[in-house]
Amino acid sequence: MKKAVMPFAIVVLLALVPYVAVEFAGLGFVFGVIVPYLAIAVFLIGFTYRIIDWAKSPVPFRIPTTCGQEKSLDWIRPNRLESPSNFFEAVARVFSEVLFFRSLFRNTKAEMHDGPKLAYGSSKWLWIAGLAFHWSMLVVVLRHYRFFIEKVPGFVTLLEDFDGILDVTLPALYLTDVLLLGAVTFLVLRRFRDVKVRLISIPADYFPLFLLLGIAVVGVLMRYIVKVDVMSVKDLMINLVHFNLTLPEGIGALFYVHLFLVCVFAMYFPFSKLMHMGGVFMSPTRNLVNNSRRKRHVNPWNPDIRIRTYAEYEDEFREKMNKANLPVEKK
Ligand code: HEM
Repeated sequence: MKKAVMPFAIVVLLALVPYVAVEFAGLGFVFGVIVPYLAIAVFLIGFTYRIIDWAKSPVPFRIPTTCGQEKSLDWIRPNRLESPSNFFEAVARVFSEVLFFRSLFRNTKAEMHDGPKLAYGSSKWLWIAGLAFHWSMLVVVLRHYRFFIEKVPGFVTLLEDFDGILDVTLPALYLTDVLLLGAVTFLVLRRFRDVKVRLISIPADYFPLFLLLGIAVVGVLMRYIVKVDVMSVKDLMINLVHFNLTLPEGIGALFYVHLFLVCVFAMYFPFSKLMHMGGVFMSPTRNLVNNSRRKRHVNPWNPDIRIRTYAEYEDEFREKMNKANLPVEKK
């Protein structure tokens, strides 16, 4: 619990800074124009740097994690997803991981019972919450596209229609808002509740969760409770996209809190565990083809060792071996 206090306090402080600065010091331009550009620059440079750094790391060995039969003899049925034997199967495996979190589906929990007896059981909650969180966040972010473009594209309207299908509030309650808030709350509580998870959790685990919770809570406040001038928000975003550095008047300070937290999120992203978004595609344990029976993989930076065959050895020592009555292959 103690390890969560500091990240929580930092997020609260981060939320207060733009509110006070815009509401009382009139620093809208700093938080509406300068900080977003800075955040995008840090995000793009940082993200690219990390990806290039990873891409440069040599992967000399086959180290895919396999959970199934590798392709070998014709009469043995290979497991194409668990042990991909060609490029397309490896791609399918990576995408099943990215889209459906396949390996998390196998998450297990270990419990000690009387006896003492250690029991393993299936544990799907993390998988469900993880999926709910990532998918709802994706939909929320896609829906936000309407703020960045003059004419709202059809897919955004479609998403909004489906998402607001319940239509129980005014404006319509988005299902993804409920899912996102619920899932992030679950992910925080999971770290508090389970003693094992609590032990291994560090502030860097809590910070992104609180930050996202902050972004979502302020977003929800803006939509359903404390209204901001959405048309001016759209003007600002379209201005930023077109490198027009003018700030529309009267947006409302809460929006700057939302935007600033998003900017912090973007700047924090490349230097944090959130980089799993890019890293998952580059993980050799997931993206390599398991063909080590078919193909010999040689470490390219092995030192150039001069190999001496047994035949050469025997040629050199045959006489001495004969004298010592040692068996030789060639008489
Ligand atoms: C990581 C990125 C972001 C996340 C996770 C996020 C999350 C949310 C959420 C959950 C809501 C509640 C309503 C809804 O779902 O639409 C919301 C609303 C809102 N967000 Fe964001 N947001 C993000 C980025 C941004 C950015 C970059 C802007 C700048 C335009 C923005 C502007 C707004 C506005 C104006 C609302 C109120 C919408 C309304 O009144 O209909 N958000 N956000």
